[in-house]
Amino acid sequence: MAEELIIAASADKKTKYETLLPQIEAIVAGESDLIANLANIAAALKQTLGFFWVGFYLVKGDQLVLGPFQGPIACTRINHGKGVCGTSWKEQKVILVPDVEQFPGHIACSSASRSEIVLPAFKGNTVALVLDVDSDQLNDFDETDQRNLESLMRLIEKIL
Ligand code: SME
Repeated sequence: MAEELIIAASADKKTKYETLLPQIEAIVAGESDLIANLANIAAALKQTLGFFWVGFYLVKGDQLVLGPFQGPIACTRINHGKGVCGTSWKEQKVILVPDVEQFPGHIACSSASRSEIVLPAFKGNTVALVLDVDSDQLNDFDETDQRNLESLMRLIEKIL
């Protein structure tokens, strides 16, 4: 397993993602434990992209339960259809929120959070987990984030 990520700090966001994803693929290839892999993925995203908060919520029964993450402490349980994460789970789709104050029912785990993107990963036809990325800047996520994080979710689906 790689001991260190090799990514130029000066690279643009698109290049960072494109350099990071194959390295994540290599890291998870050597480990079968899902939580260990999600923990390293959260750390790799934080280290490379500098996100304010990045982590996973896992579907457990009728709730999402906090999984591996990097950033300030967060809400541990989210109900189906609640907040951005619960809505992504319920609607089984990516949700990009440019301004969290404009999203009805947004759950403010941190008052510093301003924008957010949540992406589901599927096991068969059902959502198994969501990736939540939060920024302390308004409108901080774009198509580059969405496209590359969607690729990451497809990679994660292979190890679920
Ligand atoms: N804001 C999320 C809750 C999770 S935290 O931001 C880490 C939501 O509305 O679902």
